[in-house]
Amino acid sequence: MGIEVVVEGLTKSFGKQNIWRDVSLTLPAGEVSVMLGPSGTGKTVFLKSLIGLLKPEKGRVLIDGVDMVRSPEKDIYETRKLFGLMFQDGALFGSLSLFDNIAFPLREHTRKKESEIRRIVMERIEVVGLLGAEGKLPGEISGGMRKRAGLARALVLDPQIILCDEPDSGLDPVRTAYLSQLLIDLNAQIDATMLIVTHNLDIAATVPDNMGMLFRRELVTFGPREVLLTSDEPVVSQFLGGRREGPIGMSEEKDAATLAAEADRTTPAASRVIVPQLEPSPGLPPRRAVARRRERVMRMIDALPPAARSAIRETYARDAATATVTAPVAGGGA
Ligand SMILES: Nc1ncnc2c1ncn2[C@@H]1O[C@H](COP(=O)(O)OP(=O)(O)OP(=O)(O)O)[C@@H](O)[C@H]1O
Ligand SMILES: [Mg+2]
Repeated sequence: MGIEVVVEGLTKSFGKQNIWRDVSLTLPAGEVSVMLGPSGTGKTVFLKSLIGLLKPEKGRVLIDGVDMVRSPEKDIYETRKLFGLMFQDGALFGSLSLFDNIAFPLREHTRKKESEIRRIVMERIEVVGLLGAEGKLPGEISGGMRKRAGLARALVLDPQIILCDEPDSGLDPVRTAYLSQLLIDLNAQIDATMLIVTHNLDIAATVPDNMGMLFRRELVTFGPREVLLTSDEPVVSQFLGGRREGPIGMSEEKDAATLAAEADRTTPAASRVIVPQLEPSPGLPPRRAVARRRERVMRMIDALPPAARSAIRETYARDAATATVTAPVAGGGA
């Protein structure tokens, strides 16, 4: 089962430039979370901080008792093996075949025999739907296939925590829909804790259990998906509505007068529809995180904003109704 990742008061700067400050959140074990945020808000820096590749000057990232910020390097190195990381740009070696690219972490970090490596690599290649393409070079395949190869490579070491940095960038809407399904199917199969960084509103609406957003050097919010999806924060409304009106400007933040003039044109939360979360493809086991998440969310529900509360109750009521309709008739089963 996936491992919980606890982030406490994390602050990161490069020289005098502060990227974000005091970020605290917990990625619940085995659940899927999404981090939204405009370009340049430090999402990639956040992912790199989680695995200890970048060092925030304040705060902690706790994984199984190891602090990825300040624990001894050898502990950080060991804990990093729990992660699978899918990079924003695919980061494949251009001169290696897909097979060798995907086998790379196994050859680098384990002493497995070549026959064992072959078995694992081919299994992951099948999971991401690249069977037959394993002999190709990255330059010979489409961007979408490269993305999936990057995902396969992130999976070879049986990660318990999977980080995906903009898995959809450069994909068309149909490929993005397939990728969304692939991420949910993966979660059903391996029950890993997942964090997906994306700008994509369809992924945000259909994939995660939890959602957060980075903006203006702060974590705007992080919690059950319904909290962000029903939020009336101007920046959230603007982002989820994909609109120019709102606090996010092309290159910098807007001034108060512009904002006031636009105020009546943002998309109110009440007019947003919460679409159902994707379910694993037929034939796959149910996601084990679903029951855990429900228990967790119901424990905290009274502390959530009213709109989120009723959205969560509606979702779970609808699930219960479908479950009753599709449940086998009593006495009809084994
Ligand atoms: N190693 C580094 N040294 C100095 N500054 C850096 C470094 N890495 C990132 N930055 C700065 O940190 C800020 C956030 O970068 P980051 O790549 O995390 O943004 P992002 O949210 O991932 O953006 P995008 O959505 O475009 O990928 C940028 O201003 C960037 O220039
Ligand atoms: Mg980035």
